[in-house]
Amino acid sequence: MNAPDRNDQAALVLDRLGRPLRDLRMSVIETCNFRCPYCMPEETHPDEPLLGSDRRLDFQQIEVAVRGFVALGVSKVRLTGGEPLLRKDLPQLVRRLAAIEGVEDLALTTNGSLLARQAQALRDAGLRRLTVSLDTLDPQRFREMTGGRGDLADVLAGIEAAERAGFTSIKINTVVLRGMNDGDVLDLAAHFRDSGHVLRFIEYMDVGTCNGWRREGVLPSAQVRDAIAARWPLRALDANYRGEVARRHAYVNGQGEIGFISSVSAPFCGDCHRARLSADGKLYTCLFAGEGHDLRPWLDDPVALAGHLRDLWSARADRYSELRGAARGGRHIEMYVIGG
Ligand code: GTP
Ligand code: 5AD
Ligand code: SF4
Ligand code: SF4
Repeated sequence: MNAPDRNDQAALVLDRLGRPLRDLRMSVIETCNFRCPYCMPEETHPDEPLLGSDRRLDFQQIEVAVRGFVALGVSKVRLTGGEPLLRKDLPQLVRRLAAIEGVEDLALTTNGSLLARQAQALRDAGLRRLTVSLDTLDPQRFREMTGGRGDLADVLAGIEAAERAGFTSIKINTVVLRGMNDGDVLDLAAHFRDSGHVLRFIEYMDVGTCNGWRREGVLPSAQVRDAIAARWPLRALDANYRGEVARRHAYVNGQGEIGFISSVSAPFCGDCHRARLSADGKLYTCLFAGEGHDLRPWLDDPVALAGHLRDLWSARADRYSELRGAARGGRHIEMYVIGG
């Protein structure tokens, strides 16, 4: 395939706030087998929000898209959904993307329910990093927090299968909803301490328009951190890389690492290097964007695509989480369309 020259420094692009483009979140499917209340509530989404497979980018188009982004400086690619493991033949896509020169980090975010039977194939295809969403270890509450559709045992089996397949340092993402799973925080910390995996607590965000977000539902990370530190003392660690969304901490007694993602109480737009692409090929330059830019017309030529992306990224000025109050209201894309 004709690929633009990534080593040409002039190819790199900054947005209007001086931020480079480093990280692409690629949604491979817009639907999910869970109905988490903070993302796709059962009440508003009793049915599958299907695009129709003809609207979804095929693997060839996704590969062109990734090559175009790589030309502008992207080196991290994360596959998301909806639930990405619902996408047919996903390991084939992983294999194609892992082979692209310049993709240095290929990761996947999943709800874990279908992981047990796919972990080995994903690993064999070249996936090296995995994030699993898990909000509670209480089977009843788990069921409730997946809109009555999920089974905790499947997710735990998925994590175990991933370990057997060779995945290490798996990230476990927990969205904390005050009054729902805030009482499960210590159990989760106890379970994953010393496991080699990295548990991260995420503040409940006002993404999309259907999750009924209220500020009262947000439990600030500082409170979660203090509750954990009172039981198992913590010390802050440096970020792994500039723009890392999680604030890292280590257990002082050496039992591993834990993180806090505080996009409501401590926004991190200043270092936001992330672009998001929906399964139907629309570019969103912010998690809270209203409209996407349709890239489909450019997806047969990575060189033309790179030029178009340069224009779009140069015009970017998003910083929703920093503005929040002032920017709320209006249309916002849903999280399950563009992934976490
Ligand atoms: P690593 O590559 O492992 O460092 O992953 P990550 O830290 O980027 O985390 P991940 O992709 O798992 O994101 C975790 C969560 O952080 C998401 O599910 C979102 O809730 C939140 N998040 C990630 N990126 C953004 C962002 O750009 N803006 C906001 N507001 N929240 C974000
Ligand atoms: N607030 C914070 N994180 C969310 N996610 C989905 N909806 C929200 C929300 N309202 C994130 C979770 C989940 C990932 C797929 O998306 O981290 O693990
Ligand atoms: Fe599905 Fe993930 Fe959204 Fe939950 S957060 S409904 S698992 S896409
Ligand atoms: Fe980036 Fe938008 Fe999130 Fe800010 S709110 S960190 S600009 S995605």
